[in-house]
Amino acid sequence: MTAPAHARTSADLIRAEEPVLAHNYHPLPVVVARAEGAWVEDVEGRRYLDMLAGYSALNFGHRHPALIQAAHDQLDRLTLTSRAFHNDRLAEFAERLAALTGLDMVLPMNTGAEAVESGIKVARKWAYDVKGVPDGQATIVVAADNFHGRTTTIVSFSTDESARAGFGPFTPGFKIVPYNDLAALEEAVDETTAAVLIEPIQGEAGVIIPDAGYLTGVRELTRRKGCLFIADEIQSGLGRTGRTLAVEHESVVPDVLLLGKALGGGIVPVSAVVARREVMGVLGPGEHGSTFGGNPLAAAVGTAVVELLETGEFQRRADELGLVLREGLEALRGHGVTGFRARGLWAGVDVDPALGTGREISERLMREGILVKDTHGSTIRLAPPLTVTADELRSALGTLEKVLGQAG
Ligand SMILES: Cc1ncc(COP(=O)(O)O)c(C=O)c1O
Repeated sequence: MTAPAHARTSADLIRAEEPVLAHNYHPLPVVVARAEGAWVEDVEGRRYLDMLAGYSALNFGHRHPALIQAAHDQLDRLTLTSRAFHNDRLAEFAERLAALTGLDMVLPMNTGAEAVESGIKVARKWAYDVKGVPDGQATIVVAADNFHGRTTTIVSFSTDESARAGFGPFTPGFKIVPYNDLAALEEAVDETTAAVLIEPIQGEAGVIIPDAGYLTGVRELTRRKGCLFIADEIQSGLGRTGRTLAVEHESVVPDVLLLGKALGGGIVPVSAVVARREVMGVLGPGEHGSTFGGNPLAAAVGTAVVELLETGEFQRRADELGLVLREGLEALRGHGVTGFRARGLWAGVDVDPALGTGREISERLMREGILVKDTHGSTIRLAPPLTVTADELRSALGTLEKVLGQAG
């Protein structure tokens, strides 16, 4: 007989997962049972400051009251119709999301990877129907060290061997160029190119921020050469960098925008492809779909998320708290931190490898009540909820200083 969840300790629950859960993750040994705002609590009642925020799916913190209210209200009325029928929440969600992003039409999906897949399909169809690329020959140019998700097509153009090895055969039709290299892009884009697909900031690669002018250059190049610019803002978008979208730092509007993570308010999976009318217009009935995409619960939560972003408060907080974050990290440079990249409330921090791997540093931080995630070697990623306070942030940076002082 299995003990009820509340009677099992963290150690019990971690042990219980081993034989029954796929081993595709290596989580920190913390078992979260409750959360509110920027804080989570484990099974034993220990509290931790969440400095990862579900990889930015929790930009508004855990259980933001307005989002929880929107979800509750919708749960009491209507949760799912499928797109075989209309539902009374979808129009407003699409109208407001299009207005927020400065684009025209929304294709609602669920996960980030689905939005990427859908964006690829839209771009290919546009290439055949509008650009006139011969059937079957459309290419999409992507950047090295990208992270766009885990489906077979998406890992086909990953440069991370652990994401690819053992999963072939791969989908053809992608060209990989170095990130932040306009000359390489110029060379790669030709008459078969449907789109250039990039992250405006590469999150999983370690919060890699391209040089000023790169995004403007990609916009200019794609327009001049007659292909689409697809910006994957699934992690960088929706307030994280101090703007609604990271492309706004260069006042650039892509043809196709991919959103996910925070769009679901940390409650339900909600993603979307948002595009110009001439581009999204290539899709006709029966050519693409999703049973859950655009469901009324997702639309209600997504609309509440858009409403929060319309106030500008979260973008402003990310901007202002970003200064606190950068100041704190600057003070640690040479004291365990060898370098960092930050924009808004988002940072990739390189720790002196002599002090431990990113994983070891993350475990030490966990024992001190701070949750972060390592990425690649000795880099840790900081992305707290945008609701975190300046004091909480300073305290977390103090803990990082302490942990780096002890490490090695
Ligand atoms: C830029 C980017 N695109 C796509 C994805 C995939 O999203 P999901 O895990 O919801 O499929 C991620 C996830 O980390 C991401 O960071």
